[in-house]
Amino acid sequence: MQDQSGSPTPNPPRDRQNERQGDLLRFFGTWVRNPLTLGAVAPSSASYCAAMVAASTTGIEGPVLELGPGLGVVTRALLEAGVAPSRITSIEYEPEFAKTLQRRFPEVNVIHGDGFDLDKTLRDAGATRFATILFAIPIVKMAQRERQALFARYFARLLPGGNLTQLSYLWTPPVKPVAGLFEVSSSPIVWDNIPPARVWIYTPTGSSRTSGH
Ligand SMILES: C[S@@+](CC[C@H](N)C(=O)[O-])C[C@H]1O[C@@H](n2cnc3c(N)ncnc32)[C@H](O)[C@@H]1O
Repeated sequence: MQDQSGSPTPNPPRDRQNERQGDLLRFFGTWVRNPLTLGAVAPSSASYCAAMVAASTTGIEGPVLELGPGLGVVTRALLEAGVAPSRITSIEYEPEFAKTLQRRFPEVNVIHGDGFDLDKTLRDAGATRFATILFAIPIVKMAQRERQALFARYFARLLPGGNLTQLSYLWTPPVKPVAGLFEVSSSPIVWDNIPPARVWIYTPTGSSRTSGH
């Protein structure tokens, strides 16, 4: 639904409630078929999404990248926090989720593709730099070195001072810091998420910030 200015208007509460219940069933059904790709039995809670957005450096001018948006709970939190839809690119691997996202958020740049391979998915030869990256793709199957290499590639895509935030149910940092590139901290635990989770926050170290990351 849109108003005259083209901005999304909030759904009436009952519509939103029905949508949430439908999403819960759909998410769970997709998880049963493909648990490792989905990585969660339910979409993140509203307070978790708000915490993720609050920890992300959306205040830096520039595009915002969302990886693994699912059915759009974090996308919605970004919009509710005042991030313009035209700034957001959301990359989702599950084709039916990507279709739903594009329908729900027509002004967001939704791409059905692989968020692990940004050069291939964005087809920009590495040129686009982001104010922040909100990352929710499961990486349980990856070794620690691969995770660090992946995040190093993401950091090469950030504007100066930009950060990366990660959804994870682990209670220790899923990706360990890389000296000279990024440090890691976390939000407090968000208890109403299923399961309770922290937002993991990866921030450029002083040396990488001065070298342009
Ligand atoms: C844990 S869910 C998170 C969904 C949503 N962000 C939330 O917080 O509820 C992970 C999402 O990542 C998507 N995903 C998995 N592998 C992906 C990939 N290689 N590229 C993009 N998205 C991927 C899944 O389809 C799923 O929607």
